[in-house]
Amino acid sequence: MATTFDISPEKRASFRHYLYRQLFVTPPPVLQRDVNLSGKTAIITGANGGIGLEVARQLLDLGCKVILTVRDEKRGETARQELINGRSLAPEFVQVWKLDLSSYESIIAFAERAKTLKSLDIAILSAGIFKVTESFSSSTGYEEGVQINFLANMLLTVLLLPIIKEKRTPGQPGHICVVSSDTAAWTKFEEGSSTPVLPAFKRKSPNWDMSDRYGATKLLGQLFLTELAKHVSSSVVTLSFANPGFCSGSELARETSGIIRVAYKIQSYILSRKSFVGARTLVHAVTTLGEKAHGQYVEDAKVQPTAVLMYKPEGLRLSKQVYEETLDELSFAGVRDIIDQVSKVR
Ligand SMILES: NC(=O)c1ccc[n+]([C@@H]2O[C@H](COP(=O)([O-])OP(=O)(O)OC[C@H]3O[C@@H](n4cnc5c(N)ncnc54)[C@H](OP(=O)(O)O)[C@@H]3O)[C@@H](O)[C@H]2O)c1
Repeated sequence: MATTFDISPEKRASFRHYLYRQLFVTPPPVLQRDVNLSGKTAIITGANGGIGLEVARQLLDLGCKVILTVRDEKRGETARQELINGRSLAPEFVQVWKLDLSSYESIIAFAERAKTLKSLDIAILSAGIFKVTESFSSSTGYEEGVQINFLANMLLTVLLLPIIKEKRTPGQPGHICVVSSDTAAWTKFEEGSSTPVLPAFKRKSPNWDMSDRYGATKLLGQLFLTELAKHVSSSVVTLSFANPGFCSGSELARETSGIIRVAYKIQSYILSRKSFVGARTLVHAVTTLGEKAHGQYVEDAKVQPTAVLMYKPEGLRLSKQVYEETLDELSFAGVRDIIDQVSKVR
């Protein structure tokens, strides 16, 4: 049955509604009396700071073991100490694992390590970047935002699917939530008119715009995950993409300087919510929303319409096209076979 919403995609995507959400909506926390994650394990990427760290804290409060993935293990240890401070926990309750999304080898090695876990129920993929200037990955040639926010995160999603399928709590679905953004609904996505689409992100853009490109990296994720979700049963693993909203206490704007930095600070002062508030939505996506979140965009703790494009024939076509191109791009990791295996419900 098609999901129904209490708001149209157009209204949700409007700047006015964004302002309303930022200023007047506060997603509620997931309460211990409603959700108990004892005996479960979660992976949280980008967990040494910002929204990822707050997600880890909230999952830990609900009794979940957490694996913080970091590229700098020293910063990971600082985050671990912050999380365990004041709690009496066995050492395996909060672990720090290395993962560098700019390297496919690192992602594959990380997934191999995850196969050694006794249990794995949840993955929240929060690691991401906001590029201020256009630069390209030296290993793949893709623009760096697309490489990290999209290709690396989609590879990790697919590699984690069979592991969660096998190691989740018996009889309950596992959950993967990839962190998205308001900006996915705002990008002009000019590259979408190229055929094929992905190679357009290897070329220098004549109209580089940092916000537009960041939005494109998140829209690519929505296009791919919407299609991927059709191949995975929600009773096995739910796949969602969730928007924390514009949050302070984050280093996402670390590359900004000068006037852009000042504008960011002013906007943040007026509009942002704290990272722990934004993190709540991601925790809802993998707990209270259950199978309803599958293939859906989650915002302010509920399922909401995705970018307007996704409801148009062009969006449906692009979703399939981006999905196929991405599976070809990631074929070195056997992603098609992995999805075929996972799609066989057991
Ligand atoms: N903050 C917002 O207003 C906002 C709004 C909507 C969506 N989001 C999304 O929320 C997610 C978290 O962002 P945030 O605000 O928490 O930003 P943040 O404070 O900058 O955190 C980003 C995390 O990603 C990690 N990361 C970046 N590149 C990586 C790589 N190549 N390999 C592994 N880890 C990498 C960072 O690690 P290092 O510390 O080592 O760099 C950091 O832990 C992102 O996906 C972002 O796009 C944020």
